[in-house]
Amino acid sequence: MIAAFHRLFGAYPQAQGAAPGRVNLIGDHTDYAEGFCLPMPLAHLTQVAMARADGFCATSLTNNETRVFDPLGNPRGDWTDYIAGPIAELSKRGLDVPPVNVLVCSSVPQGAGISSSAALEVAVIRAALSLIGAEMADIEIARAAQAAENKYCGVQCGILDQMACAVCRPGEALLLDCRTDATSLIAVPPAFRFAVVHCGEERRLTDGAYNIRRAAVEAAASMLGLRSLRDASVESVTTLPDIEMRARARHVVSENARVLAAVEALHSSDVVRFGALMNESHRSLAVDYEVSTPGLDRLAASAVAAGAHGARLTGAGFGGCIVALIGSADAASWWARVAAENPSAWAVQL
Ligand code: GLA
Repeated sequence: MIAAFHRLFGAYPQAQGAAPGRVNLIGDHTDYAEGFCLPMPLAHLTQVAMARADGFCATSLTNNETRVFDPLGNPRGDWTDYIAGPIAELSKRGLDVPPVNVLVCSSVPQGAGISSSAALEVAVIRAALSLIGAEMADIEIARAAQAAENKYCGVQCGILDQMACAVCRPGEALLLDCRTDATSLIAVPPAFRFAVVHCGEERRLTDGAYNIRRAAVEAAASMLGLRSLRDASVESVTTLPDIEMRARARHVVSENARVLAAVEALHSSDVVRFGALMNESHRSLAVDYEVSTPGLDRLAASAVAAGAHGARLTGAGFGGCIVALIGSADAASWWARVAAENPSAWAVQL
């Protein structure tokens, strides 16, 4: 990274920042309803190096591209928005970042639902803070990164991804309460071995369909006279007049309960219970929330048939990855069986 920076920009970097991709173990499409999530960091990292320069210029070793950008200008609709947006957010918080050369190198696969964009936003903020000699708490970093994604990149996402990338630590799951932003790190017992597998389909239609789901959940809450579905009960949801809205709300309410049950299963080292909750979560995301695809359904089913305690789509859905709790099963032979039945799937992390 340092040698590449010198080769490209003729100077050494003055600051660096990094953040991992994440896998959400359970608790999807709950964050924007002030609910619960349980992500873990992946081994894949995004690294950012910076040095002061005459203008703003970024090179991505991952995309093999160099572009000039302007944090004060309009979003451009490309990967530089994930650099310009966070820099613009820092400046709104009184932390001005001078013109910089930026180098990005990432092993987090893009468009796979494992937070490559949040990892980049968080890594940019960390590098920029280090460059200007400022500090921010991890939670504030996550909030600034989310604001960048909402305002600059046009996705009305919740706080899950940015919190996970900023706060998670290796070997620990993060229980995230999206109402209060309270976080609690939970050591993951060795019996809880998770595999992350991509179904081979790029996520499609994500932003539009995502924003529509979010709007339905907010409409359901206001119809029930609530601030968010966090306060809804299974019974109150049955009173919603529209069948589709009822199903969307049922997912959110039941998924929040599953996250809390999964945390108990983690504390008591109960892989069987945790796996069963993952299977229920997948069903709820597929049937009630309608964010799965035939490829994700097939992959989750073969993951379980090959010996996983449970498997579910992870992240926004519409393609991307599943996470499977493979426990003490032999990862190589489990993967051989899954891959044989799903020729386009590829292992992100075993
Ligand atoms: C995307 C969003 C998150 C969250 C998940 C679904 O990853 O960025 O905020 O809503 O989808 O859980």
